[in-house]
Amino acid sequence: MRILVLGGSRFLGRHIVEEALLRGHTVTTFNRGVSGSLPGVEEIHGDREDAADLERLVDGRHWDIVVDTCGYVPRVVLASAQALSGHATTYAFISTISALDGFPSKPGTDESGLWACEPDAGPDDGDYGVLKAGCERAVSVGFTGNALFIQPGLILGPYENVARLPWWLTRISHGGQVLAPGSPTVPMQLIDARDIAAFTLDQSEAGVADRFIVTGPAGNATYGSWLEMCKDVTGSDASFVWVDDQFLLDREVGPFVELPLWAPPGPDMDNFWSASTERAFAAGLRSRPVLETVRDTWEWLREIPEESRVYGSSRQHGIAPDKEQAILEEWHKRS
Ligand SMILES: NC(=O)c1ccc[n+]([C@@H]2O[C@H](COP(=O)([O-])OP(=O)(O)OC[C@H]3O[C@@H](n4cnc5c(N)ncnc54)[C@H](OP(=O)(O)O)[C@@H]3O)[C@@H](O)[C@H]2O)c1
Repeated sequence: MRILVLGGSRFLGRHIVEEALLRGHTVTTFNRGVSGSLPGVEEIHGDREDAADLERLVDGRHWDIVVDTCGYVPRVVLASAQALSGHATTYAFISTISALDGFPSKPGTDESGLWACEPDAGPDDGDYGVLKAGCERAVSVGFTGNALFIQPGLILGPYENVARLPWWLTRISHGGQVLAPGSPTVPMQLIDARDIAAFTLDQSEAGVADRFIVTGPAGNATYGSWLEMCKDVTGSDASFVWVDDQFLLDREVGPFVELPLWAPPGPDMDNFWSASTERAFAAGLRSRPVLETVRDTWEWLREIPEESRVYGSSRQHGIAPDKEQAILEEWHKRS
Protein backbone atom coordinates (compact mmCIF):
# COMPACT_ATOMS: atom_id res chain seq x y z
CA MET A 1 0.00 0.00 0.00
CA ARG A 2 1.00 3.64 -0.40
CA ILE A 3 1.14 5.46 2.91
CA LEU A 4 1.64 9.14 3.65
CA VAL A 5 2.76 10.12 7.15
CA LEU A 6 2.29 13.76 8.12
CA GLY A 7 5.27 14.26 10.43
CA GLY A 8 7.04 10.93 10.72
CA SER A 9 10.54 11.98 11.72
CA ARG A 10 10.12 12.01 15.50
CA PHE A 11 8.77 9.71 18.19
CA LEU A 12 5.46 8.03 17.34
CA GLY A 13 5.60 9.08 13.69
CA ARG A 14 9.01 7.47 13.31
CA HIS A 15 7.65 4.17 14.64
CA ILE A 16 4.72 4.36 12.23
CA VAL A 17 7.15 4.88 9.35
CA GLU A 18 9.40 2.00 10.49
CA GLU A 19 6.45 -0.37 10.96
CA ALA A 20 5.00 0.56 7.56
CA LEU A 21 8.36 -0.11 5.87
CA LEU A 22 8.65 -3.46 7.69
CA ARG A 23 5.25 -4.39 6.30
CA GLY A 24 6.45 -3.64 2.78
CA HIS A 25 4.46 -0.45 2.22
CA THR A 26 5.67 2.46 0.12
CA VAL A 27 6.02 5.41 2.48
CA THR A 28 5.99 9.14 1.87
CA THR A 29 6.67 11.56 4.74
CA PHE A 30 5.66 15.19 4.76
CA ASN A 31 7.37 17.50 7.22
CA ARG A 32 9.48 20.67 7.26
CA GLY A 33 12.75 18.74 7.31
CA VAL A 34 13.95 20.30 10.57
CA SER A 35 13.59 17.22 12.80
CA GLY A 36 15.80 14.85 10.83
CA SER A 37 15.19 12.38 8.04
CA LEU A 38 14.69 8.64 7.66
CA PRO A 39 16.03 6.19 5.10
CA GLY A 40 13.74 4.24 2.79
CA VAL A 41 11.00 6.84 2.41
CA GLU A 42 10.05 9.44 -0.15
CA GLU A 43 10.53 12.68 1.76
CA ILE A 44 8.52 15.72 0.79
CA HIS A 45 9.42 18.84 2.70
CA GLY A 46 6.86 21.51 3.41
CA ASP A 47 4.87 23.23 6.12
CA ARG A 48 1.37 21.86 6.73
CA GLU A 49 0.30 25.41 7.66
CA ASP A 50 1.15 26.62 4.15
CA ALA A 51 -1.62 26.09 1.57
CA ALA A 52 0.84 26.13 -1.34
CA ASP A 53 2.92 23.38 0.30
CA LEU A 54 -0.20 21.24 0.73
CA GLU A 55 -1.14 21.77 -2.93
CA ARG A 56 2.36 20.74 -3.98
CA LEU A 57 2.15 17.65 -1.73
CA VAL A 58 -1.06 16.27 -3.23
CA ASP A 59 -0.46 17.28 -6.85
CA GLY A 60 -0.80 14.11 -8.97
CA ARG A 61 -0.54 11.78 -5.97
CA HIS A 62 -2.84 9.30 -4.26
CA TRP A 63 -2.30 7.31 -1.08
CA ASP A 64 -4.25 4.41 0.44
CA ILE A 65 -3.61 5.70 3.95
CA VAL A 66 -2.65 9.04 5.47
CA VAL A 67 -1.49 8.96 9.08
CA ASP A 68 -1.57 12.42 10.63
CA THR A 69 0.78 12.34 13.62
CA CYS A 70 1.30 16.06 14.17
CA GLY A 71 -2.11 17.75 14.15
CA TYR A 72 -2.61 20.07 17.11
CA VAL A 73 -4.67 23.00 15.74
CA PRO A 74 -8.13 22.32 14.28
CA ARG A 75 -7.98 24.81 11.40
CA VAL A 76 -4.57 23.45 10.36
CA VAL A 77 -5.90 19.88 10.41
CA LEU A 78 -8.99 21.02 8.52
CA ALA A 79 -6.78 22.37 5.73
CA SER A 80 -4.86 19.06 5.50
CA ALA A 81 -8.05 16.99 5.57
CA GLN A 82 -9.58 19.07 2.79
CA ALA A 83 -6.40 19.06 0.71
CA LEU A 84 -6.08 15.27 1.01
CA SER A 85 -9.72 14.56 0.15
CA GLY A 86 -9.73 12.69 -3.15
CA HIS A 87 -6.01 11.98 -2.75
CA ALA A 88 -6.31 9.32 -0.01
CA THR A 89 -8.71 6.55 0.96
CA THR A 90 -8.24 6.53 4.75
CA TYR A 91 -7.23 9.41 7.04
CA ALA A 92 -5.91 8.09 10.37
CA PHE A 93 -5.65 10.90 12.88
CA ILE A 94 -3.47 10.49 15.97
CA SER A 95 -5.53 12.18 18.64
CA THR A 96 -5.27 11.70 22.40
CA ILE A 97 -7.29 10.40 25.30
CA SER A 98 -7.24 14.01 26.53
CA ALA A 99 -9.72 14.87 23.74
CA LEU A 100 -12.44 13.03 25.68
CA ASP A 101 -14.96 15.35 27.32
CA GLY A 102 -14.20 15.74 31.03
CA PHE A 103 -11.19 13.42 31.08
CA PRO A 104 -9.47 12.80 33.49
CA SER A 105 -11.98 14.11 36.06
CA LYS A 106 -14.52 11.92 34.28
CA PRO A 107 -13.74 8.38 33.12
CA GLY A 108 -12.37 7.89 29.61
CA THR A 109 -14.55 5.33 27.86
CA ASP A 110 -15.50 4.48 24.31
CA GLU A 111 -18.85 6.13 25.04
CA SER A 112 -17.26 9.44 26.11
CA GLY A 113 -17.93 12.44 23.90
CA LEU A 114 -15.34 14.98 22.79
CA TRP A 115 -14.67 18.37 24.37
CA ALA A 116 -16.54 21.19 22.64
CA CYS A 117 -14.31 22.74 20.00
CA GLU A 118 -15.05 23.94 16.48
CA PRO A 119 -13.33 22.25 13.52
CA ASP A 120 -11.86 25.57 12.41
CA ALA A 121 -10.65 26.68 15.86
CA GLY A 122 -7.30 28.40 16.19
CA PRO A 123 -4.39 27.67 18.53
CA ASP A 124 -5.73 29.92 21.31
CA ASP A 125 -9.20 28.42 21.40
CA GLY A 126 -8.49 25.78 24.03
CA ASP A 127 -5.92 23.66 25.77
CA TYR A 128 -4.23 20.62 24.21
CA GLY A 129 -7.11 18.17 24.75
CA VAL A 130 -9.82 20.62 23.67
CA LEU A 131 -7.92 21.47 20.48
CA LYS A 132 -7.35 17.79 19.70
CA ALA A 133 -11.15 17.31 19.95
CA GLY A 134 -11.51 20.13 17.40
CA CYS A 135 -8.90 18.42 15.22
CA GLU A 136 -10.94 15.20 15.24
CA ARG A 137 -13.99 17.20 14.10
CA ALA A 138 -11.87 18.85 11.41
CA VAL A 139 -11.06 15.42 9.95
CA SER A 140 -14.72 14.36 10.20
CA VAL A 141 -16.02 17.40 8.31
CA GLY A 142 -13.02 18.02 6.04
CA PHE A 143 -12.08 14.59 4.72
CA THR A 144 -14.20 12.64 2.28
CA GLY A 145 -13.25 9.00 2.90
CA ASN A 146 -12.59 6.72 5.88
CA ALA A 147 -11.71 8.58 9.05
CA LEU A 148 -9.94 6.65 11.80
CA PHE A 149 -9.28 8.23 15.19
CA ILE A 150 -6.60 6.86 17.49
CA GLN A 151 -6.75 8.23 21.04
CA PRO A 152 -3.56 7.16 22.83
CA GLY A 153 -2.95 7.29 26.54
CA LEU A 154 0.51 7.98 27.84
CA ILE A 155 3.08 6.85 25.26
CA LEU A 156 6.57 5.58 26.06
CA GLY A 157 9.27 3.84 24.05
CA PRO A 158 12.45 4.37 22.05
CA TYR A 159 12.81 7.77 20.29
CA GLU A 160 10.71 9.42 23.01
CA ASN A 161 11.19 13.18 22.70
CA VAL A 162 8.99 14.25 25.60
CA ALA A 163 11.64 13.31 28.18
CA ARG A 164 9.51 11.25 30.48
CA LEU A 165 11.11 7.81 30.51
CA PRO A 166 14.45 9.16 29.15
CA TRP A 167 14.66 11.61 32.05
CA TRP A 168 13.93 8.94 34.67
CA LEU A 169 16.35 6.46 33.10
CA THR A 170 19.09 9.06 33.03
CA ARG A 171 18.41 10.21 36.60
CA ILE A 172 18.24 6.65 37.95
CA SER A 173 21.39 5.63 36.09
CA HIS A 174 23.26 8.22 38.21
CA GLY A 175 22.29 6.23 41.32
CA GLY A 176 22.10 7.41 44.93
CA GLN A 177 18.93 8.46 46.65
CA VAL A 178 16.23 9.23 44.10
CA LEU A 179 13.16 11.27 44.95
CA ALA A 180 10.14 9.12 44.08
CA PRO A 181 6.74 10.80 44.01
CA GLY A 182 3.75 9.71 46.07
CA SER A 183 3.28 6.01 46.59
CA PRO A 184 4.84 2.95 44.90
CA THR A 185 1.44 1.25 44.77
CA VAL A 186 -0.27 3.76 42.45
CA PRO A 187 -1.34 1.85 39.32
CA MET A 188 -0.37 3.29 35.94
CA GLN A 189 -1.52 2.62 32.39
CA LEU A 190 1.23 2.85 29.78
CA ILE A 191 1.49 2.03 26.08
CA ASP A 192 4.50 1.52 23.84
CA ALA A 193 4.65 3.72 20.72
CA ARG A 194 5.43 0.63 18.64
CA ASP A 195 2.15 -0.99 19.73
CA ILE A 196 0.21 2.13 18.73
CA ALA A 197 2.00 2.11 15.37
CA ALA A 198 1.06 -1.52 14.74
CA PHE A 199 -2.56 -1.02 15.77
CA THR A 200 -2.94 2.15 13.68
CA LEU A 201 -1.64 0.35 10.60
CA ASP A 202 -3.72 -2.78 11.26
CA GLN A 203 -6.90 -0.71 11.39
CA SER A 204 -5.94 1.54 8.47
CA GLU A 205 -4.99 -1.36 6.23
CA ALA A 206 -8.38 -2.94 6.94
CA GLY A 207 -10.15 0.32 6.04
CA VAL A 208 -11.70 0.66 9.50
CA ALA A 209 -13.43 3.99 10.08
CA ASP A 210 -13.82 4.20 13.85
CA ARG A 211 -12.48 5.72 17.05
CA PHE A 212 -10.36 3.83 19.59
CA ILE A 213 -8.86 4.60 22.98
CA VAL A 214 -5.42 3.04 22.61
CA THR A 215 -3.49 2.45 25.76
CA GLY A 216 -2.20 -0.44 27.83
CA PRO A 217 -4.25 -2.45 30.31
CA ALA A 218 -5.00 -0.45 33.47
CA GLY A 219 -2.40 -1.32 36.08
CA ASN A 220 0.22 -2.67 33.63
CA ALA A 221 2.74 -0.99 35.94
CA THR A 222 2.77 0.85 39.26
CA TYR A 223 4.94 3.82 40.16
CA GLY A 224 7.03 1.40 42.20
CA SER A 225 7.34 -1.33 39.58
CA TRP A 226 8.38 0.89 36.70
CA LEU A 227 10.97 2.77 38.75
CA GLU A 228 12.36 -0.63 39.77
CA MET A 229 12.41 -1.60 36.07
CA CYS A 230 14.41 1.57 35.35
CA LYS A 231 16.83 0.59 38.10
CA ASP A 232 17.19 -2.97 36.81
CA VAL A 233 17.81 -2.10 33.18
CA THR A 234 20.33 0.65 33.99
CA GLY A 235 22.13 -1.55 36.56
CA SER A 236 21.92 1.34 39.00
CA ASP A 237 22.42 1.31 42.78
CA ALA A 238 19.63 3.88 43.18
CA SER A 239 17.43 3.75 46.27
CA PHE A 240 14.00 5.33 46.05
CA VAL A 241 12.78 7.73 48.71
CA TRP A 242 9.00 7.93 48.44
CA VAL A 243 7.88 11.43 49.30
CA ASP A 244 4.29 12.32 50.04
CA ASP A 245 2.37 13.99 47.17
CA GLN A 246 1.25 16.97 49.24
CA PHE A 247 4.79 17.51 50.57
CA LEU A 248 5.95 17.84 46.96
CA LEU A 249 3.07 20.07 45.93
CA ASP A 250 3.76 22.35 48.93
CA ARG A 251 7.31 22.76 47.61
CA GLU A 252 6.02 23.62 44.15
CA VAL A 253 7.29 20.51 42.43
CA GLY A 254 5.55 20.47 39.06
CA PRO A 255 3.49 17.35 38.29
CA PHE A 256 4.36 15.74 34.93
CA VAL A 257 7.12 18.21 34.19
CA GLU A 258 9.57 18.34 37.11
CA LEU A 259 8.79 14.73 38.00
CA PRO A 260 7.69 13.26 34.67
CA LEU A 261 4.73 10.85 34.82
CA TRP A 262 3.81 12.03 38.34
CA ALA A 263 0.05 12.66 38.40
CA PRO A 264 -0.80 13.55 42.01
CA PRO A 265 -4.06 11.91 43.06
CA GLY A 266 -7.07 14.21 43.36
CA PRO A 267 -10.52 14.72 41.86
CA ASP A 268 -9.01 16.20 38.68
CA MET A 269 -6.88 13.12 38.10
CA ASP A 270 -9.21 10.38 39.32
CA ASN A 271 -9.38 8.52 36.03
CA PHE A 272 -6.00 9.33 34.55
CA TRP A 273 -4.60 5.80 34.76
CA SER A 274 -7.82 3.84 34.20
CA ALA A 275 -9.21 4.49 30.74
CA SER A 276 -11.25 1.71 29.21
CA THR A 277 -9.51 -0.08 26.38
CA GLU A 278 -11.91 -2.95 25.71
CA ARG A 279 -12.75 -1.93 22.17
CA ALA A 280 -9.14 -1.56 21.05
CA PHE A 281 -8.15 -4.90 22.58
CA ALA A 282 -11.19 -6.57 21.02
CA ALA A 283 -10.09 -5.12 17.67
CA GLY A 284 -6.62 -6.66 18.04
CA LEU A 285 -4.49 -4.19 20.04
CA ARG A 286 -1.44 -5.88 21.51
CA SER A 287 0.36 -4.18 24.40
CA ARG A 288 3.84 -5.44 25.19
CA PRO A 289 5.07 -5.74 28.79
CA VAL A 290 6.25 -2.40 30.21
CA LEU A 291 9.62 -3.97 31.04
CA GLU A 292 10.27 -4.45 27.31
CA THR A 293 9.51 -0.77 26.71
CA VAL A 294 11.79 0.34 29.52
CA ARG A 295 14.62 -1.97 28.42
CA ASP A 296 14.44 -1.01 24.74
CA THR A 297 14.25 2.69 25.58
CA TRP A 298 17.42 2.38 27.65
CA GLU A 299 19.15 0.43 24.85
CA TRP A 300 18.36 3.33 22.50
CA LEU A 301 19.10 6.10 24.99
CA ARG A 302 22.44 4.82 26.28
CA GLU A 303 23.96 5.33 22.82
CA ILE A 304 23.17 9.05 22.99
CA PRO A 305 25.64 11.17 24.97
CA GLU A 306 23.91 12.64 28.01
CA GLU A 307 24.54 16.22 26.95
CA SER A 308 22.73 15.52 23.67
CA ARG A 309 19.64 13.92 25.19
CA VAL A 310 16.59 16.02 24.52
CA TYR A 311 14.43 16.56 27.56
CA GLY A 312 11.26 17.82 26.00
CA SER A 313 10.59 19.63 22.78
CA SER A 314 9.07 22.76 24.25
CA ARG A 315 9.87 22.83 27.96
CA GLN A 316 12.47 21.49 30.30
CA HIS A 317 11.54 18.24 32.02
CA GLY A 318 13.08 16.91 35.19
CA ILE A 319 13.72 18.37 38.62
CA ALA A 320 16.98 20.29 39.15
CA PRO A 321 19.50 18.22 41.15
CA ASP A 322 19.85 20.83 43.92
CA LYS A 323 16.08 21.08 44.34
CA GLU A 324 15.76 17.29 44.52
CA GLN A 325 18.55 17.18 47.12
CA ALA A 326 17.00 19.96 49.23
CA ILE A 327 13.61 18.23 49.25
CA LEU A 328 15.16 14.88 50.21
CA GLU A 329 17.03 16.50 53.12
CA GLU A 330 13.89 18.23 54.34
CA TRP A 331 11.88 15.02 54.01
CA HIS A 332 14.43 13.01 56.01
CA LYS A 333 14.52 15.63 58.79
CA ARG A 334 10.74 15.65 58.96
CA SER A 335 10.37 11.89 59.14
N1 LIG B 1 3.48 11.53 23.96
C1 LIG B 1 2.33 11.12 24.49
O1 LIG B 1 2.29 10.60 25.60
C2 LIG B 1 1.05 11.27 23.69
C3 LIG B 1 -0.14 10.85 24.27
C4 LIG B 1 -1.30 10.91 23.52
C5 LIG B 1 -1.28 11.38 22.22
N2 LIG B 1 -0.10 11.82 21.68
C6 LIG B 1 -0.11 12.28 20.28
O2 LIG B 1 0.86 11.53 19.58
C7 LIG B 1 1.41 12.33 18.53
C8 LIG B 1 2.92 12.39 18.73
O3 LIG B 1 3.50 12.46 17.53
P1 LIG B 1 5.09 12.33 17.31
O4 LIG B 1 5.67 11.68 18.48
O5 LIG B 1 5.33 11.70 16.01
O6 LIG B 1 5.70 13.78 17.32
P2 LIG B 1 5.33 15.27 17.16
O7 LIG B 1 6.40 15.93 17.91
O8 LIG B 1 3.96 15.63 17.47
O9 LIG B 1 5.47 15.51 15.58
C9 LIG B 1 6.60 15.95 15.05
C10 LIG B 1 6.60 15.65 13.56
O10 LIG B 1 5.79 16.59 12.86
C11 LIG B 1 6.58 17.33 11.94
N3 LIG B 1 6.06 18.69 11.93
C12 LIG B 1 5.96 19.55 12.97
N4 LIG B 1 5.40 20.71 12.58
C13 LIG B 1 5.14 20.58 11.24
C14 LIG B 1 4.56 21.44 10.26
N5 LIG B 1 4.16 22.69 10.56
N6 LIG B 1 4.43 20.98 9.01
C15 LIG B 1 4.85 19.73 8.66
N7 LIG B 1 5.39 18.87 9.56
C16 LIG B 1 5.54 19.29 10.83
C17 LIG B 1 8.00 17.20 12.47
O11 LIG B 1 8.99 17.35 11.49
P3 LIG B 1 9.68 18.77 11.19
O12 LIG B 1 10.01 19.35 12.54
O13 LIG B 1 10.88 18.42 10.38
O14 LIG B 1 8.67 19.58 10.47
C18 LIG B 1 7.98 15.78 13.00
O15 LIG B 1 8.16 14.86 11.96
C19 LIG B 1 0.78 13.70 18.64
O16 LIG B 1 -0.30 13.78 17.75
C20 LIG B 1 0.27 13.73 20.09
O17 LIG B 1 -0.83 14.57 20.26
C21 LIG B 1 1.05 11.78 22.38
